[in-house]
Amino acid sequence: MRILITGGAGFIGSNYINYILHQDADDQIVCMDALTYAGNLDNLTRVRNHPGFTFIKGNISDRERVYTVFKEYCPEAVVNFAAESHVDRSIEFPDVFLQTNVVGTGVLLDASCQFGVKRFHQVSTDEVYGDLPLDCPDLWLTEKSPLNASSPYSASKASADLLVLSYYRTYRVNATISRCSNNYGPYQYPEKLIPLMVRNILKGIELPIYGKGDNIRDWLYVGDHCSAIDLILRKGAAGEVYNVGGHNEKRNIDVVNMIIEQLGKGKSLLKFIPDRPGHDRRYAIDPTKITEELGWSPKTCFEHGLKQTIDWYVNNRDWWDTVNKTGRQSPQ
Ligand SMILES: NC(=O)c1ccc[n+]([C@@H]2O[C@H](COP(=O)([O-])OP(=O)(O)OC[C@H]3O[C@@H](n4cnc5c(N)ncnc54)[C@H](O)[C@@H]3O)[C@@H](O)[C@H]2O)c1
Repeated sequence: MRILITGGAGFIGSNYINYILHQDADDQIVCMDALTYAGNLDNLTRVRNHPGFTFIKGNISDRERVYTVFKEYCPEAVVNFAAESHVDRSIEFPDVFLQTNVVGTGVLLDASCQFGVKRFHQVSTDEVYGDLPLDCPDLWLTEKSPLNASSPYSASKASADLLVLSYYRTYRVNATISRCSNNYGPYQYPEKLIPLMVRNILKGIELPIYGKGDNIRDWLYVGDHCSAIDLILRKGAAGEVYNVGGHNEKRNIDVVNMIIEQLGKGKSLLKFIPDRPGHDRRYAIDPTKITEELGWSPKTCFEHGLKQTIDWYVNNRDWWDTVNKTGRQSPQ
């Protein structure tokens, strides 16, 4: 299949391209990425020389550029990873989130209509559902849970989801959506919790924790997210939303303590800072639909995946040293 992958120089997109090119040698991948602070060609080193891989620098909200790419490469499928993805930045600079996450998705949908794309997959997030209370451990987010976004980031992703579903209904764009829980793994920009903590410990600097660190996130290894997206792309039903998660809820402070322990450091670097405005308390995905309908299940247990991930950051200091020099610093 000829697949246009947008945002493929970022964390999950680059892992997905690596995954897909090692699954089926017949796929032709065109990666289009604006190379923002979060996009990095070094993330694509593993696939750069693969005969089925092409990279194009471009912004998904640049209509002319997008149409030119569709015209030239005639993709049969589009997988849209391109997004501004960090909640803290969305609180500081909401505009760019609307531009990329909403307008950019709209441009890709228009191009998909115009050029007869056979499948459009939107990579979304569990954050569109908002949070759950900490004291109701039996409550889960299903595909039928209402959209209840808390941050400009999650509101922009929820808006994009609604656009995708409207293009399915109105223009019959053959679209699917996945809403995944928090990912971790190699090549994640060190502004997100796990790589930030590993990097700070390795540099011997403070570990900023929002509030008391008791917010709960549902963690999934990036490789398991990639396998879910690929399954939905090839076997999912048009017009459907699939939640993706591994029933792996952890308090932020417990994750940080696991990292401290693996790296053999004390807790003296921990620094509790005032909570993020509107901070979601708990995310917990119910993945029953993708499990029962498509037979997906995660393969990597958290303890193993976290160890592998920490080892990767320890062994790839050059990578995070370089990305930090080009990108902005921010807390979690
Ligand atoms: N990281 C997570 O835990 C998580 C969980 C669920 C869903 N998601 C979703 O998965 C997708 C990828 O997330 P990520 O963590 O890999 O993000 P990321 O920030 O690491 O990567 C985003 C990529 O998109 C590119 N990009 C940004 N704006 C663009 C634009 N206007 N045009 C073209 N490219 C642009 C960036 O250069 C970067 O390569 C996002 O849509 C995000 O909402 C992420």
